[in-house]
Amino acid sequence: MNFDIVILEKKSSLQQLNKIFTLVSSSNNLHIQFLELISYLELQGAKKISKLRKKYNSNNFINHHMKEEFSHSKFLKDLSLKIGVRPQGSNVFLKNGFVRNYLSLLEVFICKSLKQIKPNPSQKLSYLTYLLVTYAIEVRAISFYNTYSDHCLKNDIPLSFNSLLEDEEKHLTEIHKRILDENISTDLIFKCLKHEQKLFSTFINRVQSCTSILHHEDSQIYKKTQFELL
Ligand SMILES: [Fe+2]
Ligand SMILES: [Fe+2]
Repeated sequence: MNFDIVILEKKSSLQQLNKIFTLVSSSNNLHIQFLELISYLELQGAKKISKLRKKYNSNNFINHHMKEEFSHSKFLKDLSLKIGVRPQGSNVFLKNGFVRNYLSLLEVFICKSLKQIKPNPSQKLSYLTYLLVTYAIEVRAISFYNTYSDHCLKNDIPLSFNSLLEDEEKHLTEIHKRILDENISTDLIFKCLKHEQKLFSTFINRVQSCTSILHHEDSQIYKKTQFELL
């Protein structure tokens, strides 16, 4: 089976991602909330694997994968605390339903696509969904954290994602092997990756609109403080 699927990220979407990194790192408040958002998504991923683990409790890879995703969430939360503690209130990105549910939306699409191809017993369906969701997410995570790392390096921001990237690359290799074992068609894999690209593009647009709300709120707080000082 030819599995060399490479979906080249459009140059424009990488530029947009770089723009987001520039925007969020321009304010500590934004940067903290952005890291909290990524930490939340890693946590969502870990919780989804944890549910699957209950069905496959003897599977070492799933156990290990779950633990590493929980540790990614904690790692990112710790990075946010390195920048500082943000003012009280809910996270501006997590208020947006699409941003918060990006992973679940991908999961629903993949599960439906699998059902359309052939009926599978529920346990098998959960496992195949896990493989395809993880595959799409790991491909995304590697490109995302690499771009984030480059941005930090270029801008002297002392955040490193190397250990996290090593884990994600290891997960991708493992999942790739398991997908081959399951003989999942390349057409379906391609369809899932394309859909993830579409979701991610909307995700980035929503993140960008959230940053403008926060920039506006920050400048209102600044104006109010200036006024009170007069
Ligand atoms: Fe992760
Ligand atoms: Fe991962």
